[in-house]
Parts: sequence; C-alpha cells; structure tokens
Amino acid sequence: MRILVVDDEKNIGEVIRLLFSHDGFEVETCLTGREGLAKMEKGLYDVVISDIRLPDITGIEILRWVQEHTPEIPVVLITAYASTSQAIEAMKIGAEDYIIKPFDINELRVVVSKAYEKRKLRIENLRLRKELEESHGFSNLLGRCKPMQRVFVFIDKIAPTDSTVLITGESGTGKDLVAQAIHYRSHRKENPFVSINCASIPENLLESELFGYKRGAFTGAVADKVGLFQEASGGTLFLDEIGEMPLSLQAKILRVLQDKKVRRLGENTEKNVDVRVVAATNHNLGARIEAGLFREDLYYRLNVLQIDLPPLRHRPEDIPLLFNHFLELQNRKQNKNISGAEPKLMEIFYNYRWPGNVRQMEHIVERLVVLSEGDQLTTDLLPPDFLREYGRQESFQPGLLKEGFSLTDYLDGLTREIILKALAQSGNNRRETARSLGLSYRSLRYYIEKYGLRE
Ligand SMILES: Nc1ncnc2c1ncn2[C@@H]1O[C@H](COP(=O)(O)OP(=O)(O)OP(=O)(O)O)[C@@H](O)[C@H]1O
Ligand SMILES: [Mg+2]
Repeated sequence: MRILVVDDEKNIGEVIRLLFSHDGFEVETCLTGREGLAKMEKGLYDVVISDIRLPDITGIEILRWVQEHTPEIPVVLITAYASTSQAIEAMKIGAEDYIIKPFDINELRVVVSKAYEKRKLRIENLRLRKELEESHGFSNLLGRCKPMQRVFVFIDKIAPTDSTVLITGESGTGKDLVAQAIHYRSHRKENPFVSINCASIPENLLESELFGYKRGAFTGAVADKVGLFQEASGGTLFLDEIGEMPLSLQAKILRVLQDKKVRRLGENTEKNVDVRVVAATNHNLGARIEAGLFREDLYYRLNVLQIDLPPLRHRPEDIPLLFNHFLELQNRKQNKNISGAEPKLMEIFYNYRWPGNVRQMEHIVERLVVLSEGDQLTTDLLPPDFLREYGRQESFQPGLLKEGFSLTDYLDGLTREIILKALAQSGNNRRETARSLGLSYRSLRYYIEKYGLRE
C-alpha cells in the first residue's frame, strides 16, 4: 500500500511514515500542494492524506483533483481546530474522513486503514461492474454480418429511451442477450433487470408473480408479495416468451403499459411504476393473433420498436466468429488447449441448417471439446443424430412440392445461399470464391449483383 502525505509541517509526514512503515507500507511525503499534485500525476496511491491548509493551494483542491482524476482513491484531510467547518464541508464533497490536529496516533491508524479497506472494496465493485457490462455489452453478442451490425446500431439508438421493445427471432438467436444489452446500455443499468419466462409458469401464478399480492388476497397468500413490476422499479422487466402469455393476462399487461400503474391482487389502490418493458417471442405473433391467441392491441403496444434476429443459417459469415468464441470459452472452462477444427467439420458447420441456432452451436462445441483428445476438433465426435439430420438436409425433399412451389425461386434461393457461404468461407475474397464454385469471376459478379450480396 502506498500513502501520500501532503503537509507543510515536516514532522507530521515523518510521524505517519514511522507509524505505517512497520506494516510494510510505503509512505511518501511532500510539503506543498503542487508537489503533491505532481506526485499524484506520476504515481498511484492507495490513500492520500493532506492538510487542509497548505502554503500554496488548499487540501480541498487536492481533494477535487483526486475526484476528477482518480475518484477511487480515498482522501483523508488533516485540520486544525480552527478549520473543522472546512473539513465538514470537504466531507460533503467526498473526502473519506478527517482528523483534527493534534491527533492521536491510533486514531490516525484506524482512519487510514478504514479508508484503505474502502478503496479495496471500491476497486472490486468497479471490476465487477465492468465484468458485468462486458458480459452483457456487445462484446458478448457477436456478429459481423450486416444484419447483426444493424441490430447493434439499433440497440444503441433505442437503449436510452423508455419505449417498449419487442424482440423476435427463432429459438437460440440471442433474444435474451439483446434484452440484457438494451438494459445495460440504458440509464436504467444501475437498477434491476428482472426477467420472467411467461411460458414456464402456470397462469394463476404468473399473475401473482407479475403483480404481487396482499396478504389474504386468496387462500395461501400468507404474507404480502412484491410483484415483478415493482421489483424491476427503475429498471427493465423482460417478458420472455410473451407469445405464450394467457389472454386474460395480456389484457392486464396492456393496461400497465398504458397507465404505468399496477395493482396488487387483493388491493384496491394502484401504484405508479417506472419500468421499461422488453418482450421476446419465437412465435409468429401475427399467426397467433389470427388464431385468437394473442391480442392485437397488445401486439401494437409492444411492437413500438422491434428487433428481429436473423437465424444462424442466414448469416454464415458469423459462423467462424461464433465457433472461435465458443471454442475459446470451452477451452478456458475445461482447461484445454484445442486450436481449431478440421476443415471437414467447418464445412459441415457452414452447411448445416442450425435449427437451434447459436445455442445449438454453443452446445455442439462444448460437446466436441469435452470429447476431443487431440489438438483439433473432428467430425467423428459429432452426435449421431446431428450427422443424420445433416445427411437428410442435403437432399431435396419432395415435401417441398406444395401449392405455389417454383423451381426457379427454389434454385435462386439455393444459389444465393451457396454463394453467400462460399464468400464467407473465403473471407469475402471474390477470386477465391469464384474458383471454389467453378464460376468465372464475371459470373460471380453477376450473381452478387443479382442477389444483392455486395455487402
Ligand atoms: N450473437 C451471439 N453471440 C454470442 N453468443 C450468442 C449470440 N446469440 C446467442 N448466443 C448464445 O446462445 C445462447 C442462446 O442465446 P439466448 O438465450 O439469448 O437465445 P434466445 O433467442 O433467448 O433463445 P430462446 O428463444 O430459446 O429463449 C446463449 O448462451 C447465448 O450466450
Ligand atoms: Mg430466451
């Protein structure tokens, strides 16, 4: 631990040095404020002790400097009786503590160790917060394809607002991650992010979970319960799988969104809530509305802002990125050092349809890393049903021949997909892509224009 003492009374610095050097602490002293500032600019200290009255500037100015530049460092002020009011003023600005001259050595020891402990805690908190932000920020939501890049830009734009957001996308496309990113990039990030899965809770429980109840509201309500709307106060409430929410509750949710008020079960009065609602679904809500399972008015209320996440098979260019990310993650988790995958495996990854999207890939990579004994992941470690399904998807399925089938469209779709994959595999190198597809460079360019693959 390093302590900086700024005091024009030379012996004060000496006393403090003597007091702390036994404990292996390093104490530096200086006699003027400017000298102190110069030292702080060069080195980091764990605690700064400064007299309030100095020959050049005041201890308050030292405090202000620290607050501006290294706010996690505690500042302890020394003051003569005459200037205690100044010291109290300084506490209001954010000084850690003050001691009055002449001081008792033990008192000083206690004050400084307390300040030091606080600093350790503060640094730990900063670290945790940073970790949290990193794990929820875009750094964990990977995607270099255009659609995902657009999603990131969109999230940044909408995060600061309080508007309701609806996230759609197939299972495993990252809806949870997007909801968290919205929260942690908003001014609500210091407040709770509360998440509930509407599909996994029975109807009657779901209502009391969301709204809470008063003791005695129904048999079994033995104590008051705070609802999730209340719990998420000031923060974000994530209604996952909202498509599964029972109709009766949909009406109640709609009312909360409109009035920003909730009423606990068994209570007559309503309370204001300040909550941002983010909802997600992997259902086609349009179809559910038609089937009478989802309220159209709620849909429009939720749908103020919509983020639609593309399925993994539509963004092959993200496959190597995600693969490397999950490989690294699993290497770390399982204490392994696998360097990559054999080319055949990557080829399968590119061509597979990934019905479970990113989550499925994450699980597959985890499995491969567990089973692998070599330096590379290999195809033979893939689960048998994965390979079977992969084999099936390769061939044309007669089931596709339904009303409205068009061979031209079908082939166009296939061609587009193959070119997209080849481009991704070559890192967007067109010459290489053309070669690998057995096309001339000109033909490839033609297709790229035709299918709008220029990005
Ligand atoms: N773009 C991405 N980058 C990195 N990891 C991702 C990405 N998308 C999803 N994942 C990972 O895949 C897994 C599934 O993601 P998530 O839970 O967000 O999907 P979801 O869309 O909510 O799925 P479901 O509809 O089944 O709830 C998580 O472990 C998540 O970390
Ligand atoms: Mg989810």
